[in-house]
Amino acid sequence: MKVLVVDDEEIKRISLADDLANTGFETVSAADGREALDLLARVSFDVVVTDIRMSNMDGMELLKHIKRGKGLHPEVIMMTAYGSIPLAVEAMKLGAYNFITKPFSNDEVVTLLERIKEKRQRTPEAEKKRATVDLSKLEQTLIGHSSAMQEVRRLVELYARNDATVLLTGQTGTGKDLVAKTIHDLSNRRSAAFVKVNCSTFPDHLIESALFGHAKGSFTGADQKRDGKFDLAQGGTIYLDDVDDIPLEHQIKLLRVIEEKIFERVGAAVPIHVNVRIIAATKKRLLAEAQNGTFRSDLYYRLNVLRISLPPLHTHLVDLPALVDHLLARIAHGRPYSLHKDAIQCLLCHTWPGNVRELLNTLERAFLLGNGRITPDLLAPELEPIHEDLTGSGRFNTALNRTEQELLYKALKQANGNKSEAARTLGMKLSTFRDKLKKHSL
Ligand SMILES: Nc1ncnc2c1ncn2[C@@H]1O[C@H](COP(=O)(O)OP(=O)(O)OP(=O)(O)O)[C@@H](O)[C@H]1O
Ligand SMILES: [Mg+2]
Repeated sequence: MKVLVVDDEEIKRISLADDLANTGFETVSAADGREALDLLARVSFDVVVTDIRMSNMDGMELLKHIKRGKGLHPEVIMMTAYGSIPLAVEAMKLGAYNFITKPFSNDEVVTLLERIKEKRQRTPEAEKKRATVDLSKLEQTLIGHSSAMQEVRRLVELYARNDATVLLTGQTGTGKDLVAKTIHDLSNRRSAAFVKVNCSTFPDHLIESALFGHAKGSFTGADQKRDGKFDLAQGGTIYLDDVDDIPLEHQIKLLRVIEEKIFERVGAAVPIHVNVRIIAATKKRLLAEAQNGTFRSDLYYRLNVLRISLPPLHTHLVDLPALVDHLLARIAHGRPYSLHKDAIQCLLCHTWPGNVRELLNTLERAFLLGNGRITPDLLAPELEPIHEDLTGSGRFNTALNRTEQELLYKALKQANGNKSEAARTLGMKLSTFRDKLKKHSL
């Protein structure tokens, strides 16, 4: 494989080119983007490894030229300083294969080159097929055709290729856990561990030992040496859920792991090297927490390298029918089930503060109560009435309908299903009551 190394810092350029050549790659180097383009016009390369910031045509310009060119393009790997990560993410969106953050060891570049080599050895058809399989797998995992969910999938696919820290934000039940696991499963670390740490479940004084482990006798009750979650995640991915719950005084140690890839067990002095990808999640507005001093802002910026914001369900209700299909199949697990024709309409009237998890729970209860037959009457009582401004057009009727539906349901339930009795308690003629039941498919 032929590799072109582009960097305006001579020492780095020579060192990387040397290392790559010693590993068996045919390597040529260029001192800036301009020189690289001249070379590319004459010689064909499989991969270009380029710095982003260079004086004479920077890495971004070079990338654009390469991707505009005809024929088979070389893959492009961007080298970036921490401060230019947003540019590097932009570069991936423009078609760069990947980026690595400085300081890196030249071995990391070799690993990427080997992956590209494998990819190039597959025929274009096989490669295309593989990419399609991966994407359709993703579509079957993270459901939704709304533009918001398409964007989530696009970022998941992009971030799975990279190894930088990811921050997931979104309300409860929007799919943060699912996205974290999916990124891991699509990444190069997929065969190593995925370790979830629920930071909110540990009392403040135990979080440090949970994350980093402790030495024997390091505190009262520590009668054994214990590995922490970072030990368990070696080679794989650690998922820090509710990361904002790590107390301020313990955040510094996490910052150090990210920056130096080193930690010590509580009560021990031996530094341990980690090779772990970090994915963090929060329901809070972490930037605001950082600004008001409840979260370290340096840690915030280290976590917020690659970011995905999961949309609340009420903002992409177009995905609800597909989600219902998916979740019902999951719940039924092979058992037969049916969905009443008005069920979706009934679900669309709700605001879903608990998002996809609330939808899952609602369907699960209805499935159990209805023995697999999901009908609006089984769904309606589970749903909180909509607390909305009633002045908007259409809202008044929605609220009225919903209230009527609830009253009918409650009366019927109290009367143990006896319609005449239920009608009587509501002060309604039986025929009117029956009509209304029909209207609401109860
Ligand atoms: N787009 C989606 N497609 C399919 N399933 C989804 C989707 N979003 C969420 N889910 C499912 O909804 C449930 C809740 O999602 P998840 O646990 O990932 O939410 P969360 O954001 O981590 O919530 P919390 O903040 O409360 O921990 C899970 O069972 C998950 O599989
Ligand atoms: Mg979660």
